[in-house]
Amino acid sequence: MSSKHKKSGKTLADAANIHDLYQNAVQAPEADVEFFIDTYKKLRGKQALLMREDFCGTALLSVEWCKTDPARTAIGIDLDKPTLDWGQEHNIDAAGGDMKERVTLIEANVLDSNASKVKADITCALNFSYNIFKTRDALREYFAAAHKGLKEDGLFIIDMFGGTETMDELEEERDVDDEDFTYIWDQDKFNPITHEMLCYIHFKFSDGSKLKKAFTYDWRLWTMPEVIELMKEAGFSKVRVFWEEFVDSDDDDDEMEGTGNYEEVTEPENQESWVNYIVAEY
Ligand SMILES: C[S@@+](CC[C@H](N)C(=O)[O-])C[C@H]1O[C@@H](n2cnc3c(N)ncnc32)[C@H](O)[C@@H]1O
Repeated sequence: MSSKHKKSGKTLADAANIHDLYQNAVQAPEADVEFFIDTYKKLRGKQALLMREDFCGTALLSVEWCKTDPARTAIGIDLDKPTLDWGQEHNIDAAGGDMKERVTLIEANVLDSNASKVKADITCALNFSYNIFKTRDALREYFAAAHKGLKEDGLFIIDMFGGTETMDELEEERDVDDEDFTYIWDQDKFNPITHEMLCYIHFKFSDGSKLKKAFTYDWRLWTMPEVIELMKEAGFSKVRVFWEEFVDSDDDDDEMEGTGNYEEVTEPENQESWVNYIVAEY
């Protein structure tokens, strides 16, 4: 424990901010933005400039998007005002320059297709946030709202996780580079009839203190064919799946590791656990 925390009697868990913890442990906005830019360029032959980030939370991704080109702008939509306010101060205002003019946050429900009048080149919904919609009607309604918010050559990009392991009750711990805490992903419950799952994120700190249930996810685990069908039913003309390339890791065991490169596929190799992108064309 640092002397500062000893003096104040605070543990590292007391002193931590959950948005900072989440951003450091969960998000990799540079990699997402690189995939978005490259994919749009490949499919549309030009640069995407306006990105809409649904479920934007602290809008870290929107800021990263705008950092890649002064001509880029972003709109972030989220229901939770305190989270938007934190992101405005710590990500948007803190970035300085004209970032305040280029990132617009809207407090709204992503189901509200009039939340933003501006049509986007790319709309994204990351970290599996759409899993909050538990019925086909609700998920289709969300996809239809995302479709309506796109330009006619726009792309809707979501990430998705799956594989046999996603139906197990399990806890996975991961040390976060250069940080004094461990991230714990807890798949606490899974109902094989409804596919409802209850998951938590916990954090454990180097002084032994913990933040249990820092985030709770009450989700339906959708399968890829269901998502693809619902995107088409919502109006998208074509849906592509981009799968991460895996290679043998340097270790002696048979472990494979992800390369961070995603290729369009139709028959990927089955895996116990995967996280990939789905790209839907307007
Ligand atoms: C898992 S966080 C995602 C944060 C960030 N986008 C990321 O990629 O890590 C989910 C966010 O969705 C927001 N949210 C949940 N339901 C929503 C809805 N119907 N409309 C808009 N935002 C919603 C929550 O307030 C929360 O900030």
